[in-house]
Amino acid sequence: MLLSLLLILYHLSIIAASFIAASSDGYAPVKVSCPGGQLTRSSTTGLNPDEQSYINSRYQIAKQNLATFLNDANLKDFDVSNFLNNANPTIGLAFSGGGYRAQLCGAGQYAALDSRTNVVNGKGLGGILQSSSYISGLSGGAWLVGSLVSNNLISIDDLINQNSLWQTEHSILSPSGNFLKDIGAYFKIGEQVHGKESAGFDVTITDIWGRALSYQLLANSPNNGAGSKFSDIINQPNFQNHYSPLPILVADGRAPGTSVINLNSTVFSITPFEVGSESPSLQSFVQTKYLGTELDNGYPVDSSTCINSFDNAGFLFGTSSSLFNGIILTLGQTKLPNFITDLINKFAVDPFEKLNVDVANYSPNPFYKSSNPDTSIAKSKTLYLVDGGEDGQNVPLDPLLHRNLSTIFAFDNSADNLQWPDGTSLVKTYERQFSAEGKNSAFPYVPDSNTFRNLNLTAKPTFFGCDAKNLTGLADDVFSVPLVIYFANRPYSYWSNTSTFKLEYDIDERNSIISNGFAVASRLNGTIDLEWNACVGCAIIRREQERLGHDQTDQCKKCFQKYCWDGTIYQGNPIGDNFDESGLTVVANDYTSNSIPGFFETGPNLKKRE
Ligand SMILES: *[C@@H]1O[C@H](CO)[C@@H](O)[C@H](O)[C@H]1NC(C)=O
Ligand SMILES: *[C@@H]1O[C@H](CO)[C@@H](O)[C@H](O)[C@H]1NC(C)=O
Ligand SMILES: *[C@@H]1O[C@H](CO)[C@@H](O)[C@H](O)[C@H]1NC(C)=O
Ligand SMILES: *[C@@H]1O[C@H](CO)[C@@H](O)[C@H](O)[C@H]1NC(C)=O
Ligand SMILES: *[C@@H]1O[C@H](CO)[C@@H](O)[C@H](O)[C@H]1NC(C)=O
Repeated sequence: MLLSLLLILYHLSIIAASFIAASSDGYAPVKVSCPGGQLTRSSTTGLNPDEQSYINSRYQIAKQNLATFLNDANLKDFDVSNFLNNANPTIGLAFSGGGYRAQLCGAGQYAALDSRTNVVNGKGLGGILQSSSYISGLSGGAWLVGSLVSNNLISIDDLINQNSLWQTEHSILSPSGNFLKDIGAYFKIGEQVHGKESAGFDVTITDIWGRALSYQLLANSPNNGAGSKFSDIINQPNFQNHYSPLPILVADGRAPGTSVINLNSTVFSITPFEVGSESPSLQSFVQTKYLGTELDNGYPVDSSTCINSFDNAGFLFGTSSSLFNGIILTLGQTKLPNFITDLINKFAVDPFEKLNVDVANYSPNPFYKSSNPDTSIAKSKTLYLVDGGEDGQNVPLDPLLHRNLSTIFAFDNSADNLQWPDGTSLVKTYERQFSAEGKNSAFPYVPDSNTFRNLNLTAKPTFFGCDAKNLTGLADDVFSVPLVIYFANRPYSYWSNTSTFKLEYDIDERNSIISNGFAVASRLNGTIDLEWNACVGCAIIRREQERLGHDQTDQCKKCFQKYCWDGTIYQGNPIGDNFDESGLTVVANDYTSNSIPGFFETGPNLKKRE
C-alpha cells in the first residue's frame, strides 16, 4: 500500500519534471557530465586557447580582405602587398550602448563597414567588417552585435529584407504587438523563466527582460530563442568558416547596494568561449558553456554534475543591458501570468530587491573561492553583473585593449548632451588606465568633453593616438597602444538623437536611423571626402608602419592633418547646442568654417527640426 503510493508519487514527480523541462522550451539549464579539470582559467597567461585558435584562422581571412580594402581605397605611393608581407595590422570594432537608438545607429555603421551592403547612393567602408578580428557590443550595442552574430552574422540588407527580426514598431514590452497574443507570449515567458527557477536557479527581472528582448533579437530562432545558447554561436556557418569577427559582449561586476565607477569597475567580457574579467579584482574566466555549474576554485563541486544552457543568448544580452530592467516593472498593469506578476511585485515592492532591480544574478558564482585571494567576488556565492555602461565606459573598449589591436573603430551612440555623444565614454576609458583596475589597458590621450564638442570631434570621425611616439608614458611598448577612430552619432539625414528609453520605432523611423548611421560611418556616403576610405586605410596601417620605421605617404600625412586630434584643448566659452535646426554644426566664436573641418556637413535630406 505504502509502496504503491510512493510509486505513484514518484511517477507524478517524473511527469512534473518532464512537464517543466518541456515547457521551458530549453530555457532551463540542464545537467550534463563534466569535461574534467578546472573550468576556469587565469587571464594572466594571455588569451583563451580556443579564442587564440579562432583568431589565428580568422586572421588569415581578415588579412586577405584587408588587402582588398586597401587596394580599393586608392592609397597613393603605397605598395599594399609588399607592406602586408611584413606587417600584421589588426582591427577591432566597438558599438556603444544607448538602447534602440544605439542598436539602430550601430546597424547603419555596421552596414557601412560591410562589403555585402548594396550601396545605392554613394560609397561606404565596405570590407572593414570582413577585415576585423573582433566586434564588441554593450547594452544597446550588445543587442546589435548579439542579434547579428546569433543570426550567422546577417547583413543589414538581409535583415531588412527578411522582415522578421527587429520588428521595432512593437514595443520591446509588447513582444508580439497584439494585446491578446502578448498575454500568450508572457505566459510562455513566465513558463520558461519558471522552468529555470524549478531547475534550482535564481531568477531575476533580467530573465524576463532577456526573454522579452529575444522576441526582437532572436525572432528567427525556435521559440524566439528560448533555447539559443551564446556558446553555440560558434557552430554557425560563418563562424565555422571564420568569416566573422569574434563577438564580445560587455557587462560590469557590482557588489549589491554599491555603485560602480570607471576607476574601480570589474569589466566583464562575454565571448562564446568564456565569461570573466582581466581586471585585477578578478583576472579569471569561466567557460561560457558551463555557466551555472557549482564550482569551487574552478573545479565542479560535484564532479559528475555540470550545467549547460545557463548561457541563454537573450539572458546575456539582458545582462549587458540590465539598466533597462526597471522598465519591466512598468508591466504591472497588463495581464500577466501570476509567476511574472509575483516576480515583478517582489522586485517592485521589497526595498532591498528594488535597490537591486538592475542586477543579473549568476548563481552559483563561477568564481567562488577562485585563486585570486584579494577579490570580494571570490567570497560571494552569487556573482552580480550589471549593464556594461554603468561605469560610464559606454563604448565597450576594455576587452579590445587587452587584445593588441592596431586600430579600434569606436562607435559612440551615447546620450551625453541633448542625447548626442560628447566623448565622455572615451574620457572614462582614458582615465581608467591610471587606476588599479585599469592596469594593462593602455588607451591614447583624449581631451575633455567640452573640447570634443567645441572642436567638432563629434561632428566628424576623429583619430586618437595618431603618433605612437607621443604615447610614451602610457605603455612600455607604444606600438601596442591602438589608434582609435572615433565616430559619434550626429544628424545627416535624420535626427537620430532619440531617447535611450524609447522602446518602439515604426519601420520608416527604424530605417531612417539606420541610414543616418550609414552616413556617419561613411562620411555621408563618401560624398564629403572622396579620400575617406584612403584615410581610414592610413589609420589602419599606421601602427605597423611605425613599428617598422616606415614613413607616412604624403596622402596619409594630409589625412592625419584632417582627422587627427592634435592635442588642442578648447578653452573658449562652451557652445550650447552642437547642431542648429538644419543640422549644421553651430558656429563657435573662435572658429570659422574654414578652420574647422566638418562644418556645413549635413545631408540634403535632413528636414528642419520643428
Ligand atoms: C602585437 O601585434 C603585433 C602585430 O601583429 C606584433 O608584431 C606584436 O608582436 C604583438 N605584441 C604582442 C605583445 O603580442
Ligand atoms: C546613403 O546610402 C544609403 C545606403 O545605400 C542610402 O539608403 C541612403 O539614402 C544614402 N543616404 C544619402 C544621404 O545619400
Ligand atoms: C567603487 O568605488 C566607489 C567610490 O569609491 C565605491 O562607492 C564603490 O563601492 C566601489 N565599487 C566597487 C565595486 O568596489
Ligand atoms: C536633438 O538634437 C537637437 C539639436 O542638437 C536638440 O535641439 C534636441 O533637443 C535633441 N533632442 C533630444 C530628444 O534631446
Ligand atoms: C605629437 O607631439 C608633437 C610634438 O611633440 C606635436 O607637435 C604633435 O601635435 C603631437 N601629435 C599628436 C597627435 O598629439
